[in-house]
Amino acid sequence: MSTKIKTFVEYQQQYELSISNPEAFWADKADSFVWRKKWDKVLEWNFEDPNIQWFINGKLNITENCIDRHLSTKGDKTAIIWEPNNPDTPVRKLTYNELYLEVSKFANVLKNNNVKKGDRVCLYMPMVPELAIAVLACARIGAIHSVVFAGFSSNSLADRIKDSKVSLVVTSDGAYRGNKSMGIKKIVDEAIVSCPTVEKVIVYQHTNEPVHLVEGRDVWWTEEMNKVSSTCEPEIMDSEDPLFILYTSGSTGTPKGVLHTTGGYMVYVDYSFQNIFQVEDNSVYWCTADIGWITGHSYLTYAPLLAGATTIIFEGVPTFPDASRFWQVIDKHNVTHFYTAPTAIRSLMSFGLEPLENSKLDSLKVLGSVGEPINEEAWHWYHNHVGKGNCPIVDTWWQTETGGILISPLAGITPTKPSYATLPLPGVQPIIVDTDGNELLGNNVEGNLCMKFPWPSIIRTTYGDHERCRQNYFSTYKGLYFTGDGCRRDEDGYYRILGRVDDVINVSGHRMGTAEVENAINEHDDVIESAVVGYPHDIKGQGIYAFVICDNTTKNVETLRVEITNVVAKIIGPIAKPDRIQVVRGLPKTRSGKIMRRILRKVAEGDISSLGDTSTLLDPTVVDDIIKGALVPLKA
Ligand code: WT7
Repeated sequence: MSTKIKTFVEYQQQYELSISNPEAFWADKADSFVWRKKWDKVLEWNFEDPNIQWFINGKLNITENCIDRHLSTKGDKTAIIWEPNNPDTPVRKLTYNELYLEVSKFANVLKNNNVKKGDRVCLYMPMVPELAIAVLACARIGAIHSVVFAGFSSNSLADRIKDSKVSLVVTSDGAYRGNKSMGIKKIVDEAIVSCPTVEKVIVYQHTNEPVHLVEGRDVWWTEEMNKVSSTCEPEIMDSEDPLFILYTSGSTGTPKGVLHTTGGYMVYVDYSFQNIFQVEDNSVYWCTADIGWITGHSYLTYAPLLAGATTIIFEGVPTFPDASRFWQVIDKHNVTHFYTAPTAIRSLMSFGLEPLENSKLDSLKVLGSVGEPINEEAWHWYHNHVGKGNCPIVDTWWQTETGGILISPLAGITPTKPSYATLPLPGVQPIIVDTDGNELLGNNVEGNLCMKFPWPSIIRTTYGDHERCRQNYFSTYKGLYFTGDGCRRDEDGYYRILGRVDDVINVSGHRMGTAEVENAINEHDDVIESAVVGYPHDIKGQGIYAFVICDNTTKNVETLRVEITNVVAKIIGPIAKPDRIQVVRGLPKTRSGKIMRRILRKVAEGDISSLGDTSTLLDPTVVDDIIKGALVPLKA
């Protein structure tokens, strides 16, 4: 296992080394894994095509590194702790030995159901151990997994299945969420109606609600598991063979399938995990993210298992049965490392300190934050009341496309600073540019965040559309990977992420394209046109504010709002529901027809003091009307 950085000086030395000789640096990190064949060359790359390859011609299987290699020393160690939605439901624990058996068996089930190396398998499941088992089983046989968060609608699920031509879907009968239970299989059934590539559906029984099995297509997880042997030789993969696709929203069009490959992803997520979180052999690590997001892939599933750690899968929500749930679970399992999102912290803050009173929280050593900027107030609350002032907070900045964390403190090793992701990891070369792409040198600068050199888990392509990958990330600034985030480097050289500078909004840590939400709103029969912007929201970080032009002027506005909200939930999923819908007569457009979002953003923020010159708009009077009808108090 790779050695962890233990001092700030060592961090600085390693950083220097990683820049002066990246290939030697990463070869050294990669050496600690099980390879069936070592690579011939560490790195080939250009950001023009882009074409990025790490550990060229290396052969391996990531599950051999996540599971098999631990068995001789850690076979009886707990790999996964499952904490159910309802605290009265028994906890489940799987040792590394048990995980090995389950993954091998399910890998054989996939094979029995005709899945081969390179085939795409879609996983649409609640947070049960079987989701992680299915992820690893795909990787075991070289199938490309595409996990879709089970909160997405059947329509979104169908788009993702079609885009990557999925042949098999793994799902469950239903899911629990707080005091609700929801059908999951029926959403899959609805989606598959328009997905001719799907040949098989495997159904895991979880809530025991009745489901309809389609003869010849649908089979039960448990029945299939009873038919297979418990050994499955790992498929030997090339370093650059695809490992998974994960869909994420961009500033234009439909969500794109970010593709990650095997060798580089493995090396980087393990290296970053070990150094940032500094887990030890007896640590209990809890990442609250859903496996449907990149955090759940990299830092709930792959990295903790690569490190031979104990990882918790939590099925529930922070406020069920009440707002003390997180703290109860931390005490129950003696959690040492706790990794969650600012939106969860802010939401729990709003309940005051009482929910914390019955928890000791004395097992905690390290706290983590991910998904959006953490404001100072939430940072201090987290630090003082959860960490009792003793636990470093790692504010980890990264993206679905980066595969792993790029900018973050190393817990207890490098300094922290409230609301700052602080310093790049070794191997990571951030640069801040102005809008023309000029590098802003030195400290105390603010601009757009780019990367000038590849790290091993960088996005390789967007599935089925390489040009889109090039356009989105590698064409804005020549020779650079563009993150889409604004960033400040302060007087000490620490990085502070300022949020998106493109038409992407971040609602409770979930990424949404404004265009995507607009397209959904426009599906409503009475809507002629819409424009969506983000605005600061106390708990969610950003809320969704929609300006909508309707042709049915007699309809009650409240009814219209409810209908539009339902359309969005149906087309994308409940996470994309607008928080505010303002019906307007017109949108502020330039003479060439471009919507001036800046003006709408200002109104949504409630600040109309600096709207700029509106006289060049096609119809300046629409701005006055929008201001009059604004759904927020305005300060001029
Ligand atoms: C966007 C990526 C990476 C896992 C979860 C989200 C924002 C992420 C931070 C942070 C400030 C952050 C950025 C980024 N973001 N982490 N620590 N501080 N902003 O993944 O859906 O791919 O979204 O989330 O804006 O670009 P994602």
